[in-house]
Amino acid sequence: MIDLVIFGATGDLAARKLFPALYQLEFCRYMPGDLRVVGVGRKTWSEAEFAEHVRKSLEEFEGDLEPEPLEHLLARLTYRAIDFSPESFQALAKDSAESSLFYLSLPPDAFPMVATGLGHAGLAKESGGFRRLVIEKPFGHNLQSALQLQHSLTRHWDESQILRIDHFLGKATVQNILVFRFANSWLEPLWNAQHIAQVQITAAESIGIEGRGAFYDKVGATRDMVQNHLMQLLTFSALEPPPRLEADLLRNEKNKVLRSARPMSPGDIVRGQYQGYLQEAGIPSSNTETFAALRLYLDNWRWKGVPFYLRTGKALSKKLTTIAVQFRDPPTQLFTDTTFTPGSGWVVLELQPNESMHLEVQVKTPGLQFASRPVVLSTPRNGNSTPHELSAYATLILDALKGDRSLFIRFDEVEWAWRLLEPALNNQQPTELYSVGSEGPSGQHYLMEDQQRWRSL
Ligand code: BG6
Repeated sequence: MIDLVIFGATGDLAARKLFPALYQLEFCRYMPGDLRVVGVGRKTWSEAEFAEHVRKSLEEFEGDLEPEPLEHLLARLTYRAIDFSPESFQALAKDSAESSLFYLSLPPDAFPMVATGLGHAGLAKESGGFRRLVIEKPFGHNLQSALQLQHSLTRHWDESQILRIDHFLGKATVQNILVFRFANSWLEPLWNAQHIAQVQITAAESIGIEGRGAFYDKVGATRDMVQNHLMQLLTFSALEPPPRLEADLLRNEKNKVLRSARPMSPGDIVRGQYQGYLQEAGIPSSNTETFAALRLYLDNWRWKGVPFYLRTGKALSKKLTTIAVQFRDPPTQLFTDTTFTPGSGWVVLELQPNESMHLEVQVKTPGLQFASRPVVLSTPRNGNSTPHELSAYATLILDALKGDRSLFIRFDEVEWAWRLLEPALNNQQPTELYSVGSEGPSGQHYLMEDQQRWRSL
């Protein structure tokens, strides 16, 4: 038997993301037959109450449920109330499967206590089966706290047992970056500073902070989105081909990208705050950024001199997550009588709202004129369009159960992402206000090199 033990099973993330992911796995018949789902929380719920909570969460956040997979999932559930005392961890250990995946869907300050409690109860020891720990972001608040957290986790857990989840890596387009780059032999020779002028990585959201003010105001966009999600997209876009697609070989290459980044200065980051944030957060004054835009350079052979622009923000005009790569203009313009505009030639990998890819190429305009115009070649939307296709969380939970660590973040990546952002975090400029539904603060444009512009959302 395998146990998936969810700490924080009565919480928001479990309801919104984890239970729907489990339902999707059930629906697609990917759930291991012998898997038990153990919900753990402070509430003294009965098993029936927990099952009812899961059913209600699924109705709200997944919808359109079919009876058979739903019944299968509900039949796997069990619930343990815990008060986080050593005795309550011991009680958990008594009834624990040989192979267990402990998912900490908890506020970050609870990670050390739970990891240690499990360790003392002998639940980190592997004898016959596996014992793994899935940790949600954020991993620390800065470099120092990340190092401390790692220190406390590794008292009982080996790094190979710790799976740091970043749900962006479960999105199909992130894996598609590797396929696009390394399965197309014509492309890889062009994927470097000689041919690429700039890279823009955008994660724009139209929603605001949605009642998460107490959490968000301590964090801000740089910690919430840049340190993890955007840095990960950067590493996938810029890494060297690993010799094989094995977790550590891939993660070695990702780490090298972060280590090659030029140290940032406060001038490399622009911070914004949307109008009305203070009322929403329920705080009278705050310099927390709800928008961050950064300029980075990777001082390595492949990328020397190419700016990587990263931006993310809330309450913007739309939800859009893309990696946009711009190729250099041709050295001479043969087609002068033309609509060709310098600064086109983009390849856009879209993660959201549609998992897809767009390639902008110049073709001849119809008619007698020898002129060119841009057209966009797009892939069909990725995904199989089934009603309950696998979400990023479903993909990652399955990988965690299988023990495939490729799409989980190794500690050295966390560490170097913090190292890179540390100067910007320690030296914060005032935030610039921007209107809700806009493209963010105008100050972001000062990050751009000559002739370069942010792509419009
Ligand atoms: C989370 C952040 O990690 O990612 C949220 O904490 C953000 O603030 C979310 O809204 C965005 O994820 P997605 O998958 O909706 O783009």
